[in-house]
Amino acid sequence: MTPATDRVLVIDGTGRGHAICELFTRTHPDVTVYYGPGCDVIDDPRILPAPDVVLNDPASALAFLARHPVEFVFVSHIDALSLGYVDELRRAGHRVIGPTAAAAALEASKTRGKEFCRDHGIPVAEFEVFTDAAKAKEFLASVPYRCVVKTDGLTPDGDGSVVCDSAAEATAAVDRFAAEATAADEGLRLVVEERLFGREISVFALLDGDDALLFPTAMDYKRVLEGDAGKNCDGMGSIAPHPDDTPALREELRAVLVEPLLRGLRADRLDFTGFVYLGAMLTERGPVLIEINARFGDSEAEVVLPGVRSDFLALCRAVLDRDLARHRLDTDGLARCSVALVQGSLDPSDPDALVGWPFGPYATGQPVHGLEPAAEPAEPLGRAEPAEGAPAAAPGSLVFCANIRRDYAGTPRTTGGRIVHVVGAGATLDEARARAYRRIARVGFPGMSYRTDIGATATPAPAAPAPAVPARK
Ligand code: AMP
Ligand code: GLY
Repeated sequence: MTPATDRVLVIDGTGRGHAICELFTRTHPDVTVYYGPGCDVIDDPRILPAPDVVLNDPASALAFLARHPVEFVFVSHIDALSLGYVDELRRAGHRVIGPTAAAAALEASKTRGKEFCRDHGIPVAEFEVFTDAAKAKEFLASVPYRCVVKTDGLTPDGDGSVVCDSAAEATAAVDRFAAEATAADEGLRLVVEERLFGREISVFALLDGDDALLFPTAMDYKRVLEGDAGKNCDGMGSIAPHPDDTPALREELRAVLVEPLLRGLRADRLDFTGFVYLGAMLTERGPVLIEINARFGDSEAEVVLPGVRSDFLALCRAVLDRDLARHRLDTDGLARCSVALVQGSLDPSDPDALVGWPFGPYATGQPVHGLEPAAEPAEPLGRAEPAEGAPAAAPGSLVFCANIRRDYAGTPRTTGGRIVHVVGAGATLDEARARAYRRIARVGFPGMSYRTDIGATATPAPAAPAPAVPARK
């Protein structure tokens, strides 16, 4: 049997999962990555799809591991984390990186996440938890600020939070979540919180249980439509680094958010290794945490991880040995811009056509062309030269595969939602953005839809909490 050394299993199936696999193989010459369930469109002989491994069944991974021993397993999908994948694989004797189910509940339950922050001195917006729609509406009518209404649990398309401009909008959101809970025959659980104003930032760190290694920051474009209009979704694209990123800001984020998080995890005896993703708002009173996520952001992984030059296998070994404090992160210093290509409507003029993601039902099975690597530009990509012997950074443009699989004839076909993430890199954001959109021009599938303004404007922060809120109707 092949020795398990230098073999890992990554549990994911998104563009983020592809970016993690690419990071392993680009920064280590020998590692082989099994990617379960993974994606069979990825063109890398050292990334091997493991479709028998499914996200909601750790037993499927145990069966796979019995046939394919690995050095460790890296679990990075919240569906797997929240049901206890890490716990079960560890019980069976495997070395695993990822939060346990109890730690992943910081993301899987908004109530749990908010209460954890309040208990451990992490700044968050004012909030109340409700299980009764009428009480939630009474509260909305009584507060002097605008609100965000959130359903407690995970939602499939990332639309579980409604950012409201008025009490009427907030009331409608409560009614919507109440109706959805009734339809699903589930109890209602809502978080109603004060709306924050400022610019959002995505903060990432690798945790070993004692220490945190900060990764570059990013900005996510969560709104569905151009100009940051429409509802929130899983994200239409990202840029890195965040436009406000400075060494001073990173220090502040570490002191205000990351250090208290580490202390809280220790105090609550939560076993959290792997990536944490803190969604925060840069407000007038400093960074305020919006959410703790128990995995890397998707599509932020696609703009942050390609810039990493450190040997990721070595970093993971340090996580398993609780030795991360002795490591630093080398990055290429380039800007990156990533755009999600999503399955839109096949015929927007046909009233009977499926509306497309994330507006409603979408078609699947559309053939995708143009995934082959692009010829790289002749001009140098950036100023940062790799240290001698360090792995190279990723190429100037990349395509990360998400909901796309091969059919029996080998043709890549869409399987729904976000299909691929196209990433451009450059010495400046403008260069990165231009490379991403140039690359997109070569990719296509029927019904392809995407935002054309990712990275064009660094999402305007809603300035001040302008005119008085009509709290009472
Ligand atoms: P969440 O469902 O908590 O991940 O939030 C999704 C998105 O809703 C965030 O990324 C923000 O854009 C927005 N959001 C959530 N909470 C707030 C808040 N308190 N104030 C302003 N925007 C928020
Ligand atoms: N980028 C948003 C998320 O990963 O949830």
